[in-house]
Amino acid sequence: MTESKAAALCGIDTPVFQAGMAGLAGPDLVAAVSEAGGLGHLGGLRQPPSLLRQWIRMVRERTNRPFGVNLVPAYGGPEVFEAQIQVVLEEKVPVLSLFYGDFTALLPRIRAAGVIGMVQVGSLAEARRAAAAGAHVVIAQGVEAGGHIRGRTPLCALLPAVSAALPDTPVLAAGGIVDAGSVRAARCLGADGVWAGTLFLATEESLAHEIYKQRLLRAGPDDTEFRTGYSFGWKYGTPHRVLPGRAGFNPLRLVGGGARRQDDASMAEKLSLYAGSGVGRIGDIRPARDRVAALAAGFEN
Ligand SMILES: Cc1cc2nc3c(=O)[nH]c(=O)nc-3n(C[C@H](O)[C@H](O)[C@H](O)COP(=O)(O)O)c2cc1C
Repeated sequence: MTESKAAALCGIDTPVFQAGMAGLAGPDLVAAVSEAGGLGHLGGLRQPPSLLRQWIRMVRERTNRPFGVNLVPAYGGPEVFEAQIQVVLEEKVPVLSLFYGDFTALLPRIRAAGVIGMVQVGSLAEARRAAAAGAHVVIAQGVEAGGHIRGRTPLCALLPAVSAALPDTPVLAAGGIVDAGSVRAARCLGADGVWAGTLFLATEESLAHEIYKQRLLRAGPDDTEFRTGYSFGWKYGTPHRVLPGRAGFNPLRLVGGGARRQDDASMAEKLSLYAGSGVGRIGDIRPARDRVAALAAGFEN
């Protein structure tokens, strides 16, 4: 096993980080990933503070291992975001990952509270800002990533630039990481660890609708689209990557989203569903621990 600064910092066995995914990464998935030696992140976006607190406690009922909460200020507005941060601090969650915002004022507060702060970035300039403001870990997100995308740069260009610019900050690779081969490629480009979303949707524990999971399995390597139109709850024009909805002509096919187990089946059939460009190499639904093991194999020497 290679040395990983991020794994050592977080107290985990292998530097496999499951991306926080709004409403789709709940307590079962997070606990399963952390139990398997990686680090799960609750998808806190879309969760009212009281439900977020409940989810954190549910993770703790399932595992004693470290885990994280993921938050995005862009969705609920500053008051909801601040209330969510309060919950994370009060509940003493070990790791907080952040995306889509300016966190220069928040990061010193996170550090002072003893929480490990991670920021997902889409450009070299944003990576430098996050590290200077006190992020313990930076996640370099390539344009291959599923869901919302911060920049326009492919991972193979962004990751080596960020790793070289921040020699003292562990950098995780995000975007199209689905197997040991993609982990090895990311390591060659300077990754200290990996951050994967789509792969963890195709698990028994994720809260994705069954139809969503089946669409992930059917998708090939050419089936994702980079879009800048509508996506649920986000500012119009925020870039995102989806599997286009093709259930005949329906307005929902123009909307990016992530159908949850509790949503109506027609949502999963019609919506354009978030997925990363590695989706063509995901062939089955597995327990999350198998996903952690598959990615961890890429860190064996
Ligand atoms: C369904 C879905 C939902 C996502 N939701 C979030 C989110 O709430 N917060 C966040 O920081 N990133 C979110 N992302 C982006 C991930 O953090 C990460 O960049 C992405 O999953 C990496 O690419 P991959 O899907 O190819 O592994 C989401 C991604 C997906 C696929």
